[in-house]
Amino acid sequence: MTLWSGRFSTPMARALWDLSESYSFDHILYAHDIMGSKAHVRGLESAGLLSAEECQLLLETLDQIAQEFESGAFVRAEGDEDIHMAIERRATEIAGDVGAKIHTARSRNDQVATTLRLFTRDAVAAVAQDTLELINALIEVGAQHPGAYLPGYTHLQRAQPVLLAHHLNAHAWSLLRDVERLLDARERMNISPLGAGALAGTSLPIQPQVTSDLLGFREPFANSMDAVSDRDFVAETLFDIAMVGIHLSRMGEELVLWTSAEFNFATLGDDFTTGSSMLPQKKNSDVAELARGKSGRLVGNLTGLLVTLKGLPLSYNRDLQEDKEPLFDSIKQIFLMLSAMTGAYLSMTFNEGVAQFAADDQFLVAIDVAEKLVEQGVPFRQAHEKVGRLVAEAVREGKSLGEVVATDEEFAQFAHLFAAGSALQRRTSPGASGPLAADEQSERLLAALKATSGRLG
Ligand code: ARG
Repeated sequence: MTLWSGRFSTPMARALWDLSESYSFDHILYAHDIMGSKAHVRGLESAGLLSAEECQLLLETLDQIAQEFESGAFVRAEGDEDIHMAIERRATEIAGDVGAKIHTARSRNDQVATTLRLFTRDAVAAVAQDTLELINALIEVGAQHPGAYLPGYTHLQRAQPVLLAHHLNAHAWSLLRDVERLLDARERMNISPLGAGALAGTSLPIQPQVTSDLLGFREPFANSMDAVSDRDFVAETLFDIAMVGIHLSRMGEELVLWTSAEFNFATLGDDFTTGSSMLPQKKNSDVAELARGKSGRLVGNLTGLLVTLKGLPLSYNRDLQEDKEPLFDSIKQIFLMLSAMTGAYLSMTFNEGVAQFAADDQFLVAIDVAEKLVEQGVPFRQAHEKVGRLVAEAVREGKSLGEVVATDEEFAQFAHLFAAGSALQRRTSPGASGPLAADEQSERLLAALKATSGRLG
């Protein structure tokens, strides 16, 4: 029997029950649902709809139910369609007629919207926290290799030398934007839907402001229909998590390249690599591949929910129950991805010699030669053309660019530019990849990190 069976003459068909029940996945919302119910009960008391004694009894009952969930003693009954009904059914078992008052002036529609906002509000903060930890790990790895550099790439072709710390900080900045986005979403979702009822409020004298304050929401809803039908906050959270996932995927792709024998820029620790069931020599960067692979699933969760929402008329529709599994899945997966990638970076050995040798490729100095000409007043396009001809000559004759420059009458004055490591030192403009610009950048990054951590609280 369900809590709404009064209107029906036959019980629900098994096939509909199986389609309809959500307890099997939404039971993880119990703590936030109970939090919402406790505020609701206190709101009912302040509206004069429950006596002080009734309110007290219900609060104790809800605490007991929370305790039962914590200890694993809570038993689902046959008609418990979802977490909300399970808790109300149990409250009524414990507190009798007083328990039967708990759903006064409330619908599952405003209840589930409230519960899910409370849950998501906590979840985005936890994802933000773990993302900050990865950012800190990236900064730490950079600091472990002061002065280390590697080629920076465009089109996956060697382009210009960059400090390792600069390279890792590039990832840190993108992850920091993700944290900011998660915190923005948290602010936007911090509106209480409780008191909207099924869709149109209630004739009873409740004050949504009271429950909103009790639950630490910024303010209560303004429009009851919007309150029960809005799942923007779930979509936004799924996007923000997918974006973290996309960043982890790009980082993962890079780790796969770096740890290949072809690049050999880095090795991951034995504790963050996997072997092959057949090939004894293999040491695979599965951690990075899984980060890359799982990001597809995060995008799928976002896409799935957006499609679910697309055709829905106001206000609550049962389709909305489909918001939960993608949300829970994305949260679970991003935690796994973030903590494994953090560990992988911290376990990484960076092969400075190999990476620096690659970055000392003399073709990477071509732009510096052109820029020297610019300093002497040659228009850049002409300088580019001249150096381009030297590059073509070097390629044609199988010589290094330094050799060609040193033996050219006009260019011999620039031979010193080819000293190993010196091109990196010349990347001095603000925000550039060389050591001179690095201090300012790392100051800015640390300041931004501090501000964002402060926002997280
Ligand atoms: N389990 C439902 C959900 O997740 C709760 C709301 C049910 N409301 C309703 N009118 N059937 O959306």
